[in-house]
Amino acid sequence: MPDSLPATSPTSPTSRVTRAVQFRSSLDRPLFDEVAGFVGAMDKLKIRGGTRLAGEITVSGAKNAALPILAASLLTADEFIVDNVPQLQDVATALKLLKLMGVSVERDGATVRLKADALTKTEAPYELVKTMRASILVLGPLMARTGSARVSLPGGCAIGARPVDQHIKGLEALGATVRIENGFVVAEAKRLRGARIATDMVTVTGTENLMMAAVLADGETILENAAREPEVVDLAAALNAMGARIRGAGTDCIAIEGVERLHGARHRVMADRIETGTFLSAVVAAGGHAALRGAAAGTLHAVLDKLREAGAQIDAQNGALRIRMDSRPRAVSLRTAPYPDFPTDMQAQFMALNCVADGVGAITETIFENRFMHVHELQRLGANITIDGNTATVRGVGKLAGAPVMATDLRASASLVVAALAAEGETTVDRIYHLDRGYEAMEKKLAALGADVQRIK
Ligand code: UD1
Repeated sequence: MPDSLPATSPTSPTSRVTRAVQFRSSLDRPLFDEVAGFVGAMDKLKIRGGTRLAGEITVSGAKNAALPILAASLLTADEFIVDNVPQLQDVATALKLLKLMGVSVERDGATVRLKADALTKTEAPYELVKTMRASILVLGPLMARTGSARVSLPGGCAIGARPVDQHIKGLEALGATVRIENGFVVAEAKRLRGARIATDMVTVTGTENLMMAAVLADGETILENAAREPEVVDLAAALNAMGARIRGAGTDCIAIEGVERLHGARHRVMADRIETGTFLSAVVAAGGHAALRGAAAGTLHAVLDKLREAGAQIDAQNGALRIRMDSRPRAVSLRTAPYPDFPTDMQAQFMALNCVADGVGAITETIFENRFMHVHELQRLGANITIDGNTATVRGVGKLAGAPVMATDLRASASLVVAALAAEGETTVDRIYHLDRGYEAMEKKLAALGADVQRIK
């Protein structure tokens, strides 16, 4: 973000960071969010790898915190201001959805001003929900504020079935009647009433939806088996700033005392821990050193532990995470699980670094059933990976070799970028609209680290 950038001159090594910010400003044109559905649809990323990375970048606001926090604007008629909102395709989709419901949205760089004083519609159409599953996050706040919502079912997605049964079960416990009609979740209630809800599994957006539904309910709600992700904590902080009474966010038991109304507030979105982890993995795979300004090291313990195990030197100082990698990485084994354990959203990037590591690493995915789609593409670069059920065994090879590959989902795309940076020669990553959904100006940030990377329109 401009206010957290170092002072820099055009000739200093950090001037590339400045260019990254200029790029972002160029996207701040009016109607960005209207046309965002088309931006980058056919773009590719050309990466010439095999060189060490060196430089510094600023971490963006977290996509997975910004999305629920923007949805929380539906809970009040007053102005709600959100800072540090990343410029992403998914954010553009979220803002488009809110506008469609009558929320007035003004965007000025990383700050978004929202005012939901005249809601005109309580429906989330299939066309938007199918492009972003997190659109389901309007369900809870709409029910809390208006007592009615019609939200398209997200359907399957590339990384698995991902049902929303827990969101529905929780709303029913809060007194809503919910039916599935023509592919929509249709929910109604006079006023939700507090309840004790235990979800069958830990669900991040499920916890967030039910927390937002409960803030205006009559009485107290207890969410058991709640997700402990830092993004849930950030949302709770935003809601409390609006006058909600939420305790226990960050633990597996969250208590929400319903209030009559919420008021306006201003909230700054936390740093993106997955973006941070992705750039750190890139440095470990390709070698070199980097400083990541604004990173929240406290949200990344499991990832940092594994990067250190791979041989990286990491320290957090003066608001920056610094990483140095001077040797070939050592292979690491890991198992994904809800926070505070290793995040599924970092699994693919670690698979990529294991591909060039010394030794054999076993990666077990326990959250999503179909999250190994990057394996075939990594194999095109020369990786040695075998899959047995939900475990991928990666035997590190000395060198990967560049090749054309195709992105299949957001984090799979990130893993291809990490692998491409470590590979000798040129890799072209096709379908990077997946990347644009969740990484702000990724190629500009990579360029700031000295990578040879180019977006091809
Ligand atoms: C969120 C994140 C996503 C991350 C995931 C797991 C956002 C916008 N997205 O997704 O980046 O990969 O957490 O950390 O924050 N499940 C059900 N029924 C439900 C809800 C979930 O069966 O009603 C299952 C899912 O299919 C999955 C598991 O529970 O197997 C966890 O999913 P969940 O935590 O809900 O993921 P999201 O919130 O969609």
